[in-house]
Amino acid sequence: MTRGVPEAGAAGAGRSPRILVGADAQHAGRLAAGVVLSTVRANPAAVLGLATGSSPLPLYAALADAAVDFSRVSGFALDEYLGLPDGHPQSYAEVIRTAVTEPLGLDPRRVHVPDPHGTDHAGHAAEYDAAIDAAGGVDVQILGVGSNGHIGFNEPGSAFDSRTRVVALAERTRQDNARFFDTPDQVPRECLTQGIATIFGARHLLLIAHGAQKAEPVRRALHGPVTEDFPASIIQRHPRVTVVLDEAAATLLGRTSAE
Ligand code: F6R
Repeated sequence: MTRGVPEAGAAGAGRSPRILVGADAQHAGRLAAGVVLSTVRANPAAVLGLATGSSPLPLYAALADAAVDFSRVSGFALDEYLGLPDGHPQSYAEVIRTAVTEPLGLDPRRVHVPDPHGTDHAGHAAEYDAAIDAAGGVDVQILGVGSNGHIGFNEPGSAFDSRTRVVALAERTRQDNARFFDTPDQVPRECLTQGIATIFGARHLLLIAHGAQKAEPVRRALHGPVTEDFPASIIQRHPRVTVVLDEAAATLLGRTSAE
């Protein structure tokens, strides 16, 4: 659960990821849902790691349409903004509630989002990592990738051994996420995010990307150098990775097993 990130070439480090390509984002969402559903069917008390943002929305919609009981499933969000008022529609607590917990019928007591309240962010971060461990670790971690290679909000330069902590959002990330807010200055400057080592501790990473603007980040994540300057490249060292793309996001990959 709390294992570190293996060095390149270490025993157990990185196997080739499984790559699934859908015709469009909705098709990709159904393919990604197949991965999550097979996990939940095998273990109705599975633990899911939950991304927010646009990339997983078709997956969540496909899961909501599936006749599967999610009431014993637990969820841990990747991250939460600091500084938004409670109930703000772009707070990830709200996004997870409206896009995941309610439509899928998860038990809200089993759904966790990093706690942005108060001033003891380090304490809340440590409690969050401990809660993931206490739940037995994450079975499937759903991930998007930022245009600058972030996973969670681990911006370029984040240490591969980082745990949940406060991070200053990169200016590029604030610009990318301005589309969710009325004005660009409303985008928070800081967040709590699971660390790279926290994410890497999941037993299966499920990375989802759509659109031409994700083609280069996906190529670098899968085939670029493994470097803290491009955090998503760490997936190359994980033993179990599934990448689900639409055709536009797959255009720079040499080989894909389209379904
Ligand atoms: C969201 C998260 C981020 C997003 C990434 C891509 O919880 O941690 O890493 O996955 O910024 O965002 P979208 O999917 O909106 O392109």
